[in-house]
Parts: sequence; structure tokens; C-alpha cells
Amino acid sequence: MSTFTDAITVEELEFDPYPVYARLRQEEPVAWVPALGSWFVTTWHEVRRSMSDLESFTTVNPATPLARYCGPGNILGREGDAHSQLKESVDDLFAPVHAAQWAALAESAAREQFDSLVELGSADLMATYFKPVCVGVIGRYLGLTPAEASTVTRWSEGLIAALTNAGQDSAAARPGWQALAEIDAALGAQLDRLGRCPDSSVPSRLLQCAGPADTLATLKMIISALLEPAWLCANTMYALLTHPQQLAAVRADPGLTAVAVAEGLRWMGPVGALGRLTTRQVTLGGVVIPAGTPVTPVIAAANRDGSVFEDAERFDVHRRPAPHLSLGYARHQCLAVDLVPTVVAATLRVLLERCAALRMETQNQPYGFKFRKFSEFPVSWS
Ligand code: HEM
Repeated sequence: MSTFTDAITVEELEFDPYPVYARLRQEEPVAWVPALGSWFVTTWHEVRRSMSDLESFTTVNPATPLARYCGPGNILGREGDAHSQLKESVDDLFAPVHAAQWAALAESAAREQFDSLVELGSADLMATYFKPVCVGVIGRYLGLTPAEASTVTRWSEGLIAALTNAGQDSAAARPGWQALAEIDAALGAQLDRLGRCPDSSVPSRLLQCAGPADTLATLKMIISALLEPAWLCANTMYALLTHPQQLAAVRADPGLTAVAVAEGLRWMGPVGALGRLTTRQVTLGGVVIPAGTPVTPVIAAANRDGSVFEDAERFDVHRRPAPHLSLGYARHQCLAVDLVPTVVAATLRVLLERCAALRMETQNQPYGFKFRKFSEFPVSWS
């Protein structure tokens, strides 16, 4: 084991993981990282294999925070037929054929939300624009109807605090347990109603396929993902605001916004590292990993692999096409793989159209490696 990987700390990954990833790709693409108790996989081909070799790697792991907080029956923690049936019960609702409808919903919500801010001249866009627009539009589309967007946002924030609480600190986990109790009460009642009167919403489809326990677990997993589009809005705006020529190009051609979002996902997607367990002894990148061992496919590192992307560390909206792994790959690819970029692009298009000059507080920086995000996004535009 090398001194370099022995010395990697959680703090340096949280602060800025990209220099560590560059060195890992170069020196040890499959490396045991003692601070995380997992094999970190950082190169494009090895990361893709750890996500697509279903005989050797699984998401089924009752020890993960996701299984512990959301329940082991959540869709991401299932494999085989149980997983396929859950996904197939709802996947037509997430097909690209609905993209025009998603864009229209997001655009109208974004316009309405920005109207309520415009006179202020400055705001924390995360709290006042990105979260209300994205959580509101997607939450309503999913049919999480008993709850206001602000309530679903609070649930999601509580779950994320719990899921990222690596040290299992009970104070940090409290908002997560509180959110889960509220979700159980609100969605439990909704599922009771849907059991009697099914409809075409996501909760109803899941319920008819999987029963109440796995439906609740899957809805909790989905609620935990609902802030990610808002984080992507901020990460992409950060990329544009720190690359003024590219921002100018997007302003000159609003059609480029979707490309900027795809490149934002590649360059700094909000989900950076995933979790797998080996099901058998496997050789990956020349390294033998025993069965039953945690593996971390670092999609954020694969997305900057220089053997796949030219000048990979650079944010470049003119890079076409921009494939990335930020929305997953193979069996567990994100259910919202088409929905998310559509909603985020519409949210950013309205913002750019309404603010001819947008300035960011320069000290504001992203944080985290499992999730790379801004907690606030203070800007001014007057
Ligand atoms: C920027 C926003 C988002 C990003 C970057 C993202 C990223 C991802 C990634 C990387 C995976 C694969 C996880 C793995 O293989 O271990 C995933 C799975 C998933 N995501 Fe998302 N996600 C986002 C938003 C959403 C939203 C809004 C929903 C709501 C429907 C959602 C629902 C899911 C589901 C249900 C899965 C599990 C799919 C399966 O197991 O087959 N995601 N997501």
C-alpha cells in the first residue's frame, strides 16, 4: 500500500477532491483508501466496469447509510428481477417523449419564482430560486402531492444530512430521522389512499408493483435525490460565472444552455462517488479485490480522465459531444437521466434571460466529494 493513498484524508477530499483524483488516476487507478475503508476506482474504463459488471459488483449492501435510512428495499439497493420490476413500473413517465412538457413546467415555475425576486437585486439563489423551482417542478411531476415544495425540500435536506454523516454522529443524524418520521406519516397516508384508488403517479405505480414497504423505501431514496438538480444548477452557474467567455457564448446562443448543463455534469456533477460491494473475487485494473469488499466508483474522477476527454480538467461548452457518468451507467442509471438536464437547462435559461448581469460572491466555494455542492449561492444582478 502506498504512502500517498494511506495519507488521503476525508477533509482533503471534501475540500477539493480533484487533485487527489488526478494523482490516483495516474499512480493507482484502483487504490485502497484506508480513511474511507473502500477501494477507490478513478479511471473511465474501470469505473464503467465497476458499474456494468453485474456478476462482480452489486449495490445490495445493508450496511450503507441509504439502506439504513431509506430501507433495504429501495430501488438503488435492489438487483435482478426485483429491481427491473420497480424500474419498469415507472420508466415510461421518465421517457424523453415528455421533455417538452418538463421544459414548459420548469420554465413557467422559474419565471414565476424569479418575478418574486427581481426587485431585490440580490439573493441566495440556492434557497430562493434553484431549490423552489427544481424541487417544486419535479416533486409535483412525481406526484408527491400531499406536501409543499418547502416541506419536500426540508425532508430532502434532512436525509442528505443523515446520508453524508460518515461518523454516525447522532446529532447530525437527527434531522434525517425526523424527516423519515414525517415522510412515513405523510406518504403512509397517501399510499393508503392510493391502495384504495390507484392513479398514474409514481407512488401509485410503485405501490401496485412492489407493496408499501419497498414503495416507501424507494420514495425516500427519490426524495433524497430531489435537491441534486438544484445543486447542478449552482455548479453549472459557478462554471459559467468563472469562465466569462463561455458565459458570453451561452448568453449569445441560449440553445447552448443544454450543452453547458451536460458539460457542467461532466466537469463538476453534484454526485461524485458511488457505492458497490464485490460479490466475488475480482481483478480490476490489475488489482485483485476479495469478495465482499466495498468499492467506490468515483464518477467525478472518471469524468476527468485525460484518455477519454481532451484537456479534461477544463470546463468547455464547445466540447461536443460531452459524454459523462454523472447520471450513472448501466443497470442503475438515474431514473431522471432525461428529466434532470431538461429541468436544469430551463431553470438556468430563464435566469440568464432575466439577469443581464449576474455577479457571484467570490468567496463562495463548492464542498464535498460524495456530493459536490454549494450550500448557498449568493449573487447580485442590479
Ligand atoms: C443532478 C441531479 C441528479 C444526479 C446527478 C443523479 C445521479 C444519479 C446517479 C449517479 C445514479 C446511479 C447511482 C448508482 O449507480 O449507484 C442515480 C440513480 C438514481 N436516481 Fe438520480 N440523480 C439526480 C437526480 C435524480 C432525481 C431528481 C430523481 C427523481 C426521480 C432521481 C432518481 C434516481 C433513482 C430512482 C435512481 C436509482 C435507479 C436504479 O437503481 O435503477 N435522481 N442518480
